[in-house]
Amino acid sequence: MVVVAILAAGRGTRMKSSLPKVLHSLGGRTMVERVLASAEPLAPSRQMVIVGYQAQEVKAAMQLPGLEFVEQTVQLGTGHAIQQLLPHLEGYSGDLLILNGDVPLLRTETLEKLLQTHQANQNAATILTANLANPKGYGRVFCHNNFVEQIVEDKDCTSLQRQNQRINAGIYCFRWQNLAEVLPHLQANNAQKEYYLTDAVTQVGQVMAVDVEDEQEILGINDRLQLATASEILQRRVKEKWMLAGVTLIDPNSITIDDTVELQPDIIIEPQTHLRGNTVIQSGSRIGPGSLIENSHLGENVTVQYSVVTDSVIEPGTKIGPYAHLRGHAQVGTNCRIGNFVELKNTQIGDRTNVAHLSYLGDTTAGNQVNIGAGTITANYDGVKKHRTIIGDRTKTGSNSVLVAPVTLGNDVYVAAGSTITEDVPDDSLVIARSRQVIKRGWRKKSEEC
Ligand code: UD1
Ligand code: CA
Repeated sequence: MVVVAILAAGRGTRMKSSLPKVLHSLGGRTMVERVLASAEPLAPSRQMVIVGYQAQEVKAAMQLPGLEFVEQTVQLGTGHAIQQLLPHLEGYSGDLLILNGDVPLLRTETLEKLLQTHQANQNAATILTANLANPKGYGRVFCHNNFVEQIVEDKDCTSLQRQNQRINAGIYCFRWQNLAEVLPHLQANNAQKEYYLTDAVTQVGQVMAVDVEDEQEILGINDRLQLATASEILQRRVKEKWMLAGVTLIDPNSITIDDTVELQPDIIIEPQTHLRGNTVIQSGSRIGPGSLIENSHLGENVTVQYSVVTDSVIEPGTKIGPYAHLRGHAQVGTNCRIGNFVELKNTQIGDRTNVAHLSYLGDTTAGNQVNIGAGTITANYDGVKKHRTIIGDRTKTGSNSVLVAPVTLGNDVYVAAGSTITEDVPDDSLVIARSRQVIKRGWRKKSEEC
C-alpha cells in the first residue's frame, strides 16, 4: 500500500513571481498537476498535497476528487513539511511516496522502479538519485555501494563534498512507521536553518539509492530559466511522439503542442502553430502556418491558416482563414468556408455555408448553404444584453448588411446590400432596408451659380 505526498508549500522565491511556484505551467498543465499525474497510475490509497504559501490559490487550482490538502503554515523546510502529515497518518503501516512539487518531468516508470527496489529489498527508505555533470544546487548523496550514508545540501557541503556528482532528486519512498519515529527529532542546525527531510534519511534504517535512467526527468524548477529548459524537454518528448505516430511537423522548433492534445495520423502542422489544451484534430487536416488552436475539436480534412480557434468545433472539410477568429463555442458544419477577417463568437453554422470576408457573427445560428456577404455584421449587443440572430437555409446577405438582434431571417431570404435589418423577414423574400439613391443632375453648375 502506498500513500503519495507532494511537497508544494514553498514560495519559490527564485521564480520572482506572485504566483506560487508549483502553479507555474509547462505544456499546458501546472507543475503540481504533472507531479500528481505521474503518480496516479500507482493507484495510491491517498494523495496528499502539502500547501502553505498561497494555500488557497493552490487548492483552488487543484479541484480534483479525493485529493487531501495538509497545511504547513510556516515553511521551515522539507522535513517540517512532512512532519505535518503525522496527525493524518497515525497508525498507517504502509509506504509513503514523497514527491517534490517542483520536479514536473518525472515518468511513472521511474516511480514504479523506485517502489519495486524499495519493496524487494525491504528498505526503510529508497531515494531517487542521478549523476549530473553540473550538480550545483542539489543535495549530494553519499553512498556505499547503493546504500545511502548521508545527504548533504549544496549550501552545507564542504568544497570536497561539493565535487560529488550524485544528487538527490527529491523523490523518496519511506516505510512510514520508520519515518514517523524519526521526524519529531529533526534538527535545524544547517546553513538554511531548516528542518531537512534529507536528514531523516540517515536515521531511518537501511536506505538505498536508485539512479534515474534519463536525468532530464528529475530537473527541479527553481527559476524561470529551469522552467524554460523543462518546457523544451517536454516539447521535444511530445513532438517526437506525434511525428512517430504519423503527424508531419514542418519546422518543429517553431511549433508548440501541449501534451493534452490528441492528433490523428496524416495531419500536417505548419510553422508557427500552437496547439493547446483539450484540442483534438482528425486525419487529413492541415493547420497553420501561424495558427493557435485551443480546446477545440477539428474534424477530418479541415484547413486552418493564420487563424485563432478557441473553445470551438469545426466539422470535416471546412476551411478557416486566413485571419479568422473563432471563439466562445463557435460550431461550424461540414465543407464551410470561414474566410478573411471573420470573427465568430458563440455562433452555430450549418453545412456548406460561407462567411468569406470581413464579418462578425456573434450569438448567431445560421443554416445550411447560407452565404454571408462581405462586411455583414450581427449587432448582438444593445449595451446591456446579448441577443441572437437566426438565419435560415440558403439565405444570402448582401455586402455591408447589419442584422440587429434579436432578429430572424427565414429560409431563402435575400438581403439587399447595405441594409440594416431590424425586423424578422419571412421565408423566400427579398428585403431592402436602406434609403433610396437620389441623383441630382447638374449639381456643380447649380452650386456655382449662387
Ligand atoms: C530539495 C532537497 C535536495 C534535492 C532537491 C531536488 C531538501 C532539504 N533538499 O532541495 O536535497 O537535491 O530538493 O530538487 O529536501 N517545500 C515545502 N515546505 C517547506 C520547504 C519546501 O513544502 O518548508 C517544498 C517546496 O515547495 C518544493 C519542495 O518542497 O516543492 C522542495 O523545496 P526546495 O526549497 O525547492 O528544496 P531544494 O533546495 O530544491
Ligand atoms: Ca527545488
